[in-house]
Amino acid sequence: MNTFDWAIQLVYVASATCFVLGLHLMNTPATARRGNQVSTGGMIVALLATFVLMIHIGGVTAAGWAVMIAGALIGAAAGLYTARTVQMTAMPQLVSVFNAVGGGAAALVAIHDYVSSVSAGHVAEVTTVTTFLDVVIGSVTFSGSIIAAGKLQGMINGAPITFPGSRFVNIAVAVIAVGASIYLITTPNVWVLVIVILAALAFGVTMVLPIGGADMPVVISLLNAFTGTAVAMAGFVINNWALIIAGALVGASGGILTKLMADAMNRSLRNIMIGGFGTGDTGAAAVAGPGGDVRSIAADDAAIQLAYAQKVIIVPGYGLAAAQAQHQVGELASVLEDRGIDVSYAIHPVAGRMPGHMNVLLAEANVPYPLLKEMDEINPEFPRTDVALVIGANDVINPAARRPGTAISGMPILDVDKAKSVIVIKRSMATGYAGIDNELYVDPKTSMFFADAKTALTELTAAVKTLVA
Ligand code: TAP
Repeated sequence: MNTFDWAIQLVYVASATCFVLGLHLMNTPATARRGNQVSTGGMIVALLATFVLMIHIGGVTAAGWAVMIAGALIGAAAGLYTARTVQMTAMPQLVSVFNAVGGGAAALVAIHDYVSSVSAGHVAEVTTVTTFLDVVIGSVTFSGSIIAAGKLQGMINGAPITFPGSRFVNIAVAVIAVGASIYLITTPNVWVLVIVILAALAFGVTMVLPIGGADMPVVISLLNAFTGTAVAMAGFVINNWALIIAGALVGASGGILTKLMADAMNRSLRNIMIGGFGTGDTGAAAVAGPGGDVRSIAADDAAIQLAYAQKVIIVPGYGLAAAQAQHQVGELASVLEDRGIDVSYAIHPVAGRMPGHMNVLLAEANVPYPLLKEMDEINPEFPRTDVALVIGANDVINPAARRPGTAISGMPILDVDKAKSVIVIKRSMATGYAGIDNELYVDPKTSMFFADAKTALTELTAAVKTLVA
């Protein structure tokens, strides 16, 4: 290696260091933003180094540069626009689309490398295991992520989709993809590569179609790990250390996140992949509920309970995100704190529809991080809490999880039912994601405030302000 190559490799190591540091900073909400900036800085440096390397090596035609620059500009503009304008509730599908793009791009790197090497006659160099791992994992991620995004967006039925022999088709395409890849290692042939790509794309589709809507965020996290692995393989194919390290980090962290999410829902990854749980949201129209009397409450009475409490725990759920009521809950909390009330937020690991959903929403409303308490920390506090204010959360507070035989049995829950009184804001008696009734709603100490979360919180805040401290 000459001095120039050394310098480029050192820059790659520096950018990889930024990725590791960035990940470390994302450990806590207080430094997460800085972590993002450090990682972005590392990626910009790696991109610039790659451009400098390409200019140094030469051989890229003017048309090649035009395609690359146009692609980078269009891709960056599209990414920036969608990331800035996306609704928080649509974030999982956006992540899924990004996974598809990442996996697809990684696969294209290996496909291009293979095809150009075959046509140049350097066959022995191209038939590496990493090339085919890249093609297979990247293609599976691409098609699987498109299906996952379609399901979450409601463009494809969120219910598990199976057809007679679907499992057989799934296994058959996997065998074809792996078998044809092994064949290619010994016998280079571009047409067999096409079979590998088509079989891997088909596997991605048949893998995700049978998975129900409730499990989709876990699948997206798994596909994110796949994207990272495909990118790391692409790094081996083109001998780029920054890609290998960045891909390995995404692969490993995606894998860990997948496991944590599956654990927080008390589901095994095997169960999830076999499919069949949860079909997505239930509308406000479904009004059937658990047997028993429901006590409904209006803003004025709820405000009195809150205003004269000493300790209030706010429990945000998917409904808060759907109503985009993060600013309203932040305002209510500060009005209560001004009255000397001890207010904190109970954050369940799978409240909402993606990891960290509630943390991100509440951070957007400038809720101080120390007020956000994780499940293990907040659960012992419920018995000495005067009012637990549940906002659009359902499954994560459902006591049915403590009993065997229900769709959420064994899922750790927030012990809201142990608070002295409970106020639940939601629009109806409809079920949550898991599709099961919640007996907390008929508990004598529970009052139901039937309204959209944003409207209800605005009314509550106004009513509390009118009360004498
Ligand atoms: P859910 O159980 O889905 O309940 C949300 C409730 O919000 C619904 O019952 C709905 O009732 C209410 N709601 C919807 N829109 C509303 C609005 N505009 N205003 C007020 N209320 C509204 O939510 P959760 O308790 O947060 O639980 C999350 C679920 O998602 C769990 O089952 C979890 O396993 C699953 N899940 C989460 C993740 C992650 S990582 N977060 C991943 C996979 C699965 P109404 O229709 O009556 O209003």
